[in-house]
Amino acid sequence: MTEHIKIEQQDGVLEIIFARPDKKNALTNDMYRAARAALESARHDKSIRAVLIGAEGNAFTAGNDLGDFANVSSGKGGEPQAGPFIQTIGQFEKPIVAAVPGIAVGVGTTMLLHCDLVYVADTAKLSAPFVNLALVPEAASSMLMPARIGYVKAFAAFALGESISGPEAVALGLANKALPLDEVLPAARSAAQTLAKKPAGALVATKKLMRDAETILARMKQESAIFGERLKSDEAREAFSAFAERRQPDFTKFTS
Ligand code: COA
Repeated sequence: MTEHIKIEQQDGVLEIIFARPDKKNALTNDMYRAARAALESARHDKSIRAVLIGAEGNAFTAGNDLGDFANVSSGKGGEPQAGPFIQTIGQFEKPIVAAVPGIAVGVGTTMLLHCDLVYVADTAKLSAPFVNLALVPEAASSMLMPARIGYVKAFAAFALGESISGPEAVALGLANKALPLDEVLPAARSAAQTLAKKPAGALVATKKLMRDAETILARMKQESAIFGERLKSDEAREAFSAFAERRQPDFTKFTS
């Protein structure tokens, strides 16, 4: 499918590794498709008892590939695949452990709200600067993020683009532990293997009780409709052009 997603399976744990380090693991449509397919097969495979999501290099992911967003924005691109991936991860019944070695932008941060255990590097930076890109929060983060870290922190992350460090992520309840970079993946692997040895029925039932999947899905659908409109806005086109041209965007020429 794509060499930018690596899938491995060991001792009841399926690992999904973002492997596009030269682009900070920015997620293309092909990568979303491959990651989603892996989750779907893990869902039905009784030998898989936990999933680990990690990344090569020193970034978790720089979020959605902005070239793909620009293509959708200008009517050139195919169907964005972030939505289907997010819906799958949001409804995934088995436990998911995340290993976050560095920056996690946009969906890189919002997908963590759907992971059950999260290990981050001390030096990690979590950000969800949707408004800077003229977009809106996705992955039900408009609901889950304020609930998790409080309204004003969540608003500052979405609207001001304020990032959250590894230790802060732990203090805010977004991550379990902040660790030196080389300890992040081993800690996540060890946690996933521990989960794989637990009674799977009890784990799935516990996760189901702790997450209101129906409400989460409904919010994702609401966000996705607005996100799709925003992607095609003049403001978003300006944001994507500015990134490609390595300049600051100028939104002052647009009114709401
Ligand atoms: N989509 C596509 N390419 C991306 C990308 C993205 N989201 N994020 C980074 N890249 C690419 C850069 O274009 C660059 O490619 P190049 O080497 O061919 O020029 C490469 O990855 C390295 O990125 P660079 O910007 O040089 O690294 P940095 O360490 O200076 O900055 C970021 C890292 C993540 C802060 C910066 O790349 C960034 O802001 N990216 C956009 C993040 C974003 O807005 N994501 C969408 C959220 S919804």
